Amino acid sequence: MDDSLALLISETEIKQKVEEMGRKINHFYAGQDLDKLVVIGILRGSFIFMADLARQLTIPVELDFMDVSSYGRSSVTTGMVRILKDISEDITNKHVLLIEDIVDSGLTLKYLSKILWARSPRSLRICTLLNKPSRRRTELEPDFYGFMVPDEFIVGYGLDYAGKYRELPYLAIVKP
Ligand code: IMP
Ligand code: MG
Repeated sequence: MDDSLALLISETEIKQKVEEMGRKINHFYAGQDLDKLVVIGILRGSFIFMADLARQLTIPVELDFMDVSSYGRSSVTTGMVRILKDISEDITNKHVLLIEDIVDSGLTLKYLSKILWARSPRSLRICTLLNKPSRRRTELEPDFYGFMVPDEFIVGYGLDYAGKYRELPYLAIVKP
């Protein structure tokens, strides 16, 4: 491993957790009146998690993606997001599950949820691999999450640091 990284969660642990999350989501939506679930991955951080999680789902799904960017300097989250790529599906009256890599301040998802709720979905829930509650700046809570993580900068399995490390099969902390 790169000298500037410290292992946080191994490939095996991630695999087990994603399987467990898939079971929970299947079970949860099996009890709903579901035509199909629209699963929306938030690019780019969620793409690897989304690909693995989708293969655990046994309920009918439609997979879609959205790309958003924060307004202003990226180091200071304002919570305002700009849609760079919108979903292709009409979500009116549909059950929707948003897939994120990590919920940090929660501001991005808070704002994005507001935009999506305006399109009248039947339901809108949030699934994130990582949850960093110590940094929360709004009351947002994910409906499904994989791991609680400490207040450190995390990379790998889709998450990047200045464009690097997304391809790593494990999760690691960037050493200060
Ligand atoms: P929030 O609006 O502060 O919740 O921002 C969440 C977004 O910031 C995530 O989707 C990530 O793209 C990015 N982010 C937050 N914390 C980390 C981290 O520890 N590693 C990599 N990206 C992060
Ligand atoms: Mg992101």
